[in-house]
Amino acid sequence: MQTRKHVLRRSPEGVPSEDDFELVEATVADPADREVLVAVRYVSLDPGQRSRLGTGSDYAGSLNVAVDEVVTGYAVGEVVESNHPDFAAGDSVKGELEWAEYCVVSGDELSPVDVPAGVSESAALSVLGGTGRTAYFGLLDVGEPRPGETVVVSAAAGAVGSVVGQIARLAGCRAVGITGSDEKVAYVTEQLGFEAAINYRTDDVEQALGERCPDGVDVYFDNVGGEIYDAVLGHLNQRARIAVCGKISLYNEDDPDPGPRFMHQRKRVREEGFIVHDFANRFEEADERLGEWLSEGSISFREHVSDGIEHLPSAFIGLFDGDNIGKQLVEIHHGGNEP
Ligand SMILES: NC(=O)c1ccc[n+]([C@@H]2O[C@H](COP(=O)([O-])OP(=O)(O)OC[C@H]3O[C@@H](n4cnc5c(N)ncnc54)[C@H](OP(=O)(O)O)[C@@H]3O)[C@@H](O)[C@H]2O)c1
Repeated sequence: MQTRKHVLRRSPEGVPSEDDFELVEATVADPADREVLVAVRYVSLDPGQRSRLGTGSDYAGSLNVAVDEVVTGYAVGEVVESNHPDFAAGDSVKGELEWAEYCVVSGDELSPVDVPAGVSESAALSVLGGTGRTAYFGLLDVGEPRPGETVVVSAAAGAVGSVVGQIARLAGCRAVGITGSDEKVAYVTEQLGFEAAINYRTDDVEQALGERCPDGVDVYFDNVGGEIYDAVLGHLNQRARIAVCGKISLYNEDDPDPGPRFMHQRKRVREEGFIVHDFANRFEEADERLGEWLSEGSISFREHVSDGIEHLPSAFIGLFDGDNIGKQLVEIHHGGNEP
């Protein structure tokens, strides 16, 4: 069987460019014992993947992709052929798959996609997958919000941020978002129930935080780092918590400023970084709660789905330009050669 797949041709210098990737034709090997042939359906695009491509800041640091190797990412797909006892043709599966139409993977690395009836399987990559879990544990366990507090979240209209603000609201807090366009400000305030939002491209963030957080900031859920992080520091209350989820503004820097700043001691601030896998033994709890909130209409989510394998590099690069509202995915079609 033939497939198209994206190969990394060079490690990006600074912001990745489309020329760093090449879409090539290849033959897919037959699956060996315990292996599975998968037709890739939806690929998740995550800012943290930047560090796996080399150069730039070393954020996640593992699962690196070498030059001339196929790029991989978290994805869902349909089993076409299985030599693994847990899977059969037609099953919907998720795991680390290739940026390809078809690929062969070890069945030991796959899990079944399990989403409620009527919900797209792509939700296993967004609100009912890593995105939702990151928001859930990062806010509730690391940020420890209490009713009546103010929670500020950056990249607020993105995959993780949009869920964080809604969970903050459910926890009885005021959710204030920082994001990159008026359309995104309107989305989080009018559709997701954030109390207020700031467009960091057009507003004076320092001043806007003072106006929109009159009682100061108790929890800052940091998705971006850099100047936005610095602006929030001046508004933190005594005993504030910072949940460091990510630092997208620094991912393309070779030598990011290590921080943190002196405000922490004076205000007894607790800052804690986390990786969603720290909570792997409680994923079921998050999936259940998020599923309930979704089915009762307490939270909603949006997916930004780009169409076609050709668009994987541009969709990934678009994360750094803020092209997406909600979770950035790419849907893969199989050219009339559907499984
Ligand atoms: N700790 C973990 O386990 C974990 C898991 C998943 C994700 N993350 C991190 O969580 C963060 C959000 O990830 P996501 O998947 O939800 O992505 P996302 O928020 O859907 O997409 C990234 C967004 O970041 C904003 N952005 C890009 N460059 C920026 C810059 N220089 N300054 C400020 N904002 C910028 C853009 O929105 P605007 O238009 O608002 O600029 C863009 O839409 C990332 O830092 C990611 O690495 C961490």
